[in-house]
Amino acid sequence: MRLLIVGNMGYVGPSLVRHLRTAFPGSELIGYDAGYFAHCLTGAPTTPEILLNRQHFGDVRDLPEELLIGVDGVIQLAAVSNDPMGNRFEAVTSAINYESSVAIAKRALAAGARRFVFASSCSMYGAAAGGPRVESDPLNPLTAYARSKVAAENALSQLEPGGAVVTSLRFSTACGMSDRLRLDLVLNDFVACAVSSGEITVLSDGTPWRPLIDVADMARAIEWALTRDPSDGGNYLAVNVGSDEWNYQVKDLAFAVSRAVPGTKVSINENAPADKRSYRVDFSTYRKLAPRHQPKVDLDQSIRQLKQGLIRMNFRDENFRGSHYMRLKVLESHIEAKRLTESLRWTQQG
Ligand SMILES: NC(=O)c1ccc[n+]([C@@H]2O[C@H](COP(=O)([O-])OP(=O)(O)OC[C@H]3O[C@@H](n4cnc5c(N)ncnc54)[C@H](O)[C@@H]3O)[C@@H](O)[C@H]2O)c1
Repeated sequence: MRLLIVGNMGYVGPSLVRHLRTAFPGSELIGYDAGYFAHCLTGAPTTPEILLNRQHFGDVRDLPEELLIGVDGVIQLAAVSNDPMGNRFEAVTSAINYESSVAIAKRALAAGARRFVFASSCSMYGAAAGGPRVESDPLNPLTAYARSKVAAENALSQLEPGGAVVTSLRFSTACGMSDRLRLDLVLNDFVACAVSSGEITVLSDGTPWRPLIDVADMARAIEWALTRDPSDGGNYLAVNVGSDEWNYQVKDLAFAVSRAVPGTKVSINENAPADKRSYRVDFSTYRKLAPRHQPKVDLDQSIRQLKQGLIRMNFRDENFRGSHYMRLKVLESHIEAKRLTESLRWTQQG
């Protein structure tokens, strides 16, 4: 089996590649990435791309046709991948996350791929008062990032895949250790605060709900999407990926981290304006369709692995919220140094 992983050099990609190498030992794994975060390795003993058969560098807006030849499955991770980056690069976010994802899906299916997996996001539920959201509930995307995922899903659902299988995995907020660790994610941020300063500052009032998933379990979900039987769920499926036990309020996450890193103080901003991005998610469809690929990592394990990873990296930066552990900062520093343009294209210096 030949698999093309688009956007493999970010936070999720390294865990995914490691997982696919084990799950499909004889497979040919090809990576394609612009390399915005290629240098952001975090304590990895080797570059994670060593597990691939080939790494290609390029932009999703001009993926070469030859990379699609003979490919059985495409996993589309490449994205402007969070709200702060989406707000800063709004038009580019739509071009990369929506237009390019759909164009690649169409081209891959036309070239004969049988599987297309799209990394979508539960953030499309936006502000969702009431019970946990199911897949058929109305979507309420509040940001450019969430809107780009909704637009991509809408277009993917309209494709005529023939016998191919297209799956949009609506991932919970990711967390956990990675060879390219990012700290612009709620749980990772809290563990980094605890390890570097012994104090977690919760920027909101702590009440918003966030479903979480460890990167290792995201990889298992992608394996499922590459192998699932289309008679369960159909040739096109959009499904929430996570587990009911991992619907947490932000303050519960902070206290769980403070228990795992003894001596950590938690300060909550009781006067913060209500954070609109609050949603609980129902994962019963995923539980029913993917009983053998359910999340395995529990919260304490994820926190422990992050803590160990940060200690291994000798992580001490109390001001990391302004550092290159935040993806937006990395893109901005490329632009400042004139390596990237405002459209996130490499320049001659890049
Ligand atoms: N991290 C999360 O919490 C989370 C949650 C739900 C869904 N997702 C989705 O999962 C996917 C992977 O997330 P991640 O955390 O690894 O993101 P990331 O930003 O760490 O990695 C994305 C990768 O895509 C590449 N990329 C971006 N634009 C590109 C372009 N124009 N051409 C080629 N490559 C490009 C980047 O270089 C990077 O290596 C994304 O689609 C994201 O939206 C992530």
